Amino acid sequence: MKDVLNNLNIASNRRSFVKNGLTAAGAAAVGAGLLAGGVPAFGHEDEKNGRLTKGDAAILRFLAAAEILETDLWQQYNELGGIQDNEVPGGTGSAPYIAALKVLDGDMDQYIHDNTEDELTHEVFINAYLASKGADTVNLDKFRTLASSKSTGAQQIGRLTNLMELTVDTSWWTRYRSRTKNPDFRDTFDQAVPSLNKGQHPAIPRKDDDLSPKDHIQAIANTAGFHFGTIEQGGTSLYPSLAQRVTSVEVLRIVLSIGPTEAMHFQTWQDKAGNAPPLTDPNDPSLVFPDLNAPHSEDLQTNLIMPEPTIFLSRKLPACSIVRPTGTKGAAMGAAKFLTAMGLFRGQSPAFFALLGDLAEDADEAKRGGQ
Ligand SMILES: [Fe+2]
Ligand SMILES: [Fe+2]
Repeated sequence: MKDVLNNLNIASNRRSFVKNGLTAAGAAAVGAGLLAGGVPAFGHEDEKNGRLTKGDAAILRFLAAAEILETDLWQQYNELGGIQDNEVPGGTGSAPYIAALKVLDGDMDQYIHDNTEDELTHEVFINAYLASKGADTVNLDKFRTLASSKSTGAQQIGRLTNLMELTVDTSWWTRYRSRTKNPDFRDTFDQAVPSLNKGQHPAIPRKDDDLSPKDHIQAIANTAGFHFGTIEQGGTSLYPSLAQRVTSVEVLRIVLSIGPTEAMHFQTWQDKAGNAPPLTDPNDPSLVFPDLNAPHSEDLQTNLIMPEPTIFLSRKLPACSIVRPTGTKGAAMGAAKFLTAMGLFRGQSPAFFALLGDLAEDADEAKRGGQ
């Protein structure tokens, strides 16, 4: 994993990537895979920004990629655990998985469906807006190479993301409950479910063998329940972090209008994760979901689902209930690393990581008021 994270940095620049000896065919595939709409394969310098500033186009392209990746993962959840309909087609559902998810909330299938549809509209809208301004759009179809779940209910198609070997960081739980710490002050936070942040865990049934015993499929549903929060708190921070470097008021409006929907998702998932029943996975006794209310700690208490006020900008200012982190420096690369570190792209090609890193780097070069 460390190597992959390094690759995001080392190979993050498409110019150097091309110069450093990828074959022409490989480089062309990379360019064509990432940027649809007749973009020259070789180039970063040649990417069209149309009537947008370079920075605004780069921020929107990174967000489009993030939304494509989100859609891909939510689609997998919806096929097995959500509601399959004409709004979110694909898959036929897995009754045992849906039943286990419903232990967290009777409406989980509806919420999974709606989150999936939201991400799809984010992806389509941002790309359509880029195109409407004459700017290049993002297409990751060449990287739809990862395996689908073999469990009954999933479509058998190539995926961008892997939900079957996740390492789920649950520190957002204590981060949003802390009254004294903020990641923008370099503070660190304890895990709510320490064992989810170690090893590799499925968040969807991998095959029908995973549908029993009961506590095993419940452990998979619990993992999903926490992963939903992990993903959506990331989006909740990403939009305000990047908004600070947007130039056009209209692009700012887009970012400020999509970002809070990620917060609405996060708020919902945080509430539902608190209903995950305490248990030990019988098939993997290292995976333990603790009773978060047992220690009587405000940093763990399940019903504290609204952000506790904490330090913001300066310790001299009063505490404030806020999204955190919202630091803008390196925010896109931070998001790319966060998604990579959770194992979401396990099995992806070096070209994929190079492209993700490149898009992030371009977004992080954007300056407010730039040309
Ligand atoms: Fe989204
Ligand atoms: Fe999201």
